[in-house]
Order: sequence, then structure tokens, then C-alpha cells
Amino acid sequence: MTDFADVQGNILRGYRMPRVRYLILEVADRSAARRWLAASTSGRGGGVPQITPGHWGANKPDTCFNIGLTYEGLRALGTPGSSLAMFPNEFIEGMNARALKLGDVGRSAPQTWPAPFNEPARIHLIATIYATEVEQLDDVQRRALADGKAWRLLGTREGCSFPDDIVHFGYRDNIMQPRFEGVHDPQRHADGQPRAPLGTVLLGHPTNLEGLMWRVPQPEALGRNGTFNAFRVLKQDVAGFEKYLDQAASDLLKHPQVDEVLPPGAEVKICQVLSIAPPSRHGALREVVAANLCGRWRDGTPLALSADTPDPKVDQAKFDYDGNSRCPYGAHIRRCNPRGGQIVQRVANNSRRLVRRGVPYGPPYNGTQPGDKSRPEPERGLLGNFIGASLGAQFEAMSCDWLNLGLQDPRITRSNDPITGTNDPDTSWFDLPLKSGSTIRLRGLPEFVSTRGGAYTFLPSLSAIRYLGSL
Ligand code: HEM
Repeated sequence: MTDFADVQGNILRGYRMPRVRYLILEVADRSAARRWLAASTSGRGGGVPQITPGHWGANKPDTCFNIGLTYEGLRALGTPGSSLAMFPNEFIEGMNARALKLGDVGRSAPQTWPAPFNEPARIHLIATIYATEVEQLDDVQRRALADGKAWRLLGTREGCSFPDDIVHFGYRDNIMQPRFEGVHDPQRHADGQPRAPLGTVLLGHPTNLEGLMWRVPQPEALGRNGTFNAFRVLKQDVAGFEKYLDQAASDLLKHPQVDEVLPPGAEVKICQVLSIAPPSRHGALREVVAANLCGRWRDGTPLALSADTPDPKVDQAKFDYDGNSRCPYGAHIRRCNPRGGQIVQRVANNSRRLVRRGVPYGPPYNGTQPGDKSRPEPERGLLGNFIGASLGAQFEAMSCDWLNLGLQDPRITRSNDPITGTNDPDTSWFDLPLKSGSTIRLRGLPEFVSTRGGAYTFLPSLSAIRYLGSL
């Protein structure tokens, strides 16, 4: 039995609050930090913000507050060496040291990350505040740091969601999340995929890996019901993405097989559903390319269900990949979750699933304004959390094998994910499937997403927070 009140909130179910602020903290005084942790689970309001559990009963709080600890943070709090040694290697090493595995090279290399991510050993705790208004974020932050002793604030990051779950690049996101055995989430309905065992996301519970369980760092109170998070600051080059769509659409217009990509007249429906005015073949082809790169039209319609036009009537969550699917093997969502489709690592099909909690940062992109050329574009992107019981077997394996090496299918091996991969325009390619079974190869994809920081954290259970507070 899982005690949902023991699991931190936003893991098994999302909060769906529009504003999120991350406080990146260093232990300033070990005893004060332990007292702060104890107070954060004491149930007494007013002072230190209370950790929001996964089960909040009938009264959803106005603001939520959660924490993640890095390995250095656990050490700084004085966690016994015997417990520390039981944490998995990738967590002990930390995100910066795992750069090659994650494709954090070139512009994404940790050596280029701004403060505070350039000093990973100082990042001990990442506290996250969720709210509707900025004033609420400010208030919780003030209370979190009020004692002035426990923590040193190294930096903050802040994001705010856009209407209808749209993210930069213009896609609808947050459609798919794993559904867990024994967890009822009213926002998620049956999607035809097997429910993930709780051990996919919580330590101490069965996984779907043939009887294997991830090691629970001891004592039980520390490890059980905890999980791991890859927090990523992912900068998105929205202008570059739109420019690429322009270029690819212009190239396709001249391609002898363009009518197979976009049958004559099909542009009318595409432009109508996606509100592109005036309708044009170029405008529709941009959307066809965007849809293929992701595996979904920008309104969320999966290509697996409707490859020729976006269709507001389909169930966006319920579909699978079979031999006839017109979703490209290399599309972002097919790489991340091959569902029931055939892949090389067949046993891995449903074992790498991740809980994703993300929020955009930076202003929405409204196109390049005429006369604005001299003004640099503000930075924008995604503050992403990729949560699972094993960073190595889930987040890292997905990032390395599937997103960046394409090992799941020989037809895409040696190509990178078209949206988030470490692409180089000189070598990158992406195959656009045609109805006839042949493909058109798109080339010249640049790196649209680059990493600007991040950390691996352990999201302890409430029991674990009490345990750490009592050390
Ligand atoms: C800025 C970078 C990224 C953008 C813009 C992006 C965008 C998207 C979009 C639009 C979807 C479709 C919505 C949905 O199915 O819920 C999606 C799905 C998904 N993405 Fe990403 N993504 C990014 C980075 C990543 C990374 C780094 C990972 C993992 C390492 C990842 C893993 C996933 C997964 C697992 C899904 C769900 C696929 C499914 O279950 O069908 N994404 N992403």
C-alpha cells in the first residue's frame, strides 16, 4: 500500500498551477537547515512553508511547496556515509558530470552554464513554489528564507504557463503522462497503454522489469517513496525553429513529390484548423513539417491518428504505433515513448516512462518585429522536470539511446531527435514518411534546444524529510 500523504506532491499528479519559481539553495548552517526541514513537515503554518504532499484531500492549497536534494545536499546535511553510498552512481556524480551521456556538449556544455549551475557542488536543495500570482511566490519565498540562517540563495528560475498548455515552438504539451497502478488522476483517462507500476516512479515499489526493484537507500525512512528528478533549463531558439520551418516548406514546395506530402487543396483544412490566415500551401507545409518533427500537429493531434490534417475530434491520448503508422520513427514523441511499436530494445518499451512537469520561461514569441533587428531576443525555453525511479534507466537511457543515438530503430540510428537533439546542420537529417512508403529526407536541422543548467535531485518522501530533519 502506498501512503500518498507520504509522497511529495506534483509527482503522481500535477498541480496545474500557472506560476512556478525555483529557489536554488546552499546549506549555510547544517543545524539550521535540519531544523528548517523538520519545520517544513511539522504541520504548523505561518513560518517555514509546509511541504505539499501528494494527497491534499478536498482542499487544494493556493500555493504548493516542494523540495529536491542533490547528492551534495544530502552530504551537507550530514546524511550517514553508509546511506549515501547506496544512492545510484549517476545521482552521486551529478548532472554536470553526465554531460556526454546527456548530449550536453558544445553550446550545451556545463562549462557554458550560467550561475548558479556553474558551481554544482554548491547546489544543495532546489525548492519549488507553485502559485497563481507572483505575490504568492514572493510571500512563500520570503517565508522560506525568513530565518536567514539555514540557506544561502544562489539563484532563482521562474516560469509561467501559457493558455491551453501551449509551449514555445507552439505545440500543445502535457497531453501524455504515465498512469500509475493504484493512482486515480481525474485529469487522465484511459490511453490504451499499460498502467505503469508504482516502482516506475517511487522507490520501494515493484517495477515492470521482471521482478527487479531499484535499490532503496537505507534506512527505509530515507529511501522509500522517494524518487529522482532531472531538473533542466532548456533554452529554445524559437526564431530559429520558425525559420527552419520556413526553409523546409520552401524546399518542399519545389520537391517533385510535394503533392504526396500535401495533396492539392489539403492546405485549406490544415490552415483552417490551425487558424493560419490567409491559407497557403507554404503555410500548410510549415505545419506538416512541424507535425512530423514532433509526431503531433501543433494542436496536439497525433500523426498516428490523423496524418493528413489536424483533427480536433480525435482522442489525443489514445493511439499506438503499428506497422502502418504514418508517425515518423524519428519524431520526438515516438522516440520518447515507442508505445507498443516494434523497437530494437523490445523489453524497454514501457520501462523508461517519465513523469514530466514543465513550465515555459521567457515571453511568448510573436515573430520578429520589423525594425527590431538590433534588439537581442530575450531568452526563452522550458524549465523541465523529468521524474523517475532510476535516472540511469529512464531519463539518461531515453536521452542517450533514443533521443540522441536513435538506437531503437535502424532506420533512424545516427540521427538525433529533431526537436531536442544535439543537431548539427551539416550532418543532421530527418525522414518525412510519404503515403507511398517512400520518404523525403530533410536536412540542415540546427540545434533548436540547448541546455543552460540543471541538476539531479532526490525528491524525498515526507518521512525522509522528517528523518533528515532529525539527524
Ligand atoms: C524544450 C525541449 C522540449 C520540447 C519543446 C518538448 C516538446 C514536447 C511535446 C510538444 C510533446 C507532446 C505532448 C505530449 O505528448 O504530452 C512532448 C512529449 C514528450 N516529451 Fe518532450 N519536449 C522537450 C524535451 C524533452 C526531453 C529532454 C525529454 C526526455 C528526456 C522529453 C520527453 C518527452 C516524453 C516522454 C513525451 C511523451 C511522449 C508520449 O508519451 O507519447 N521531452 N514533448
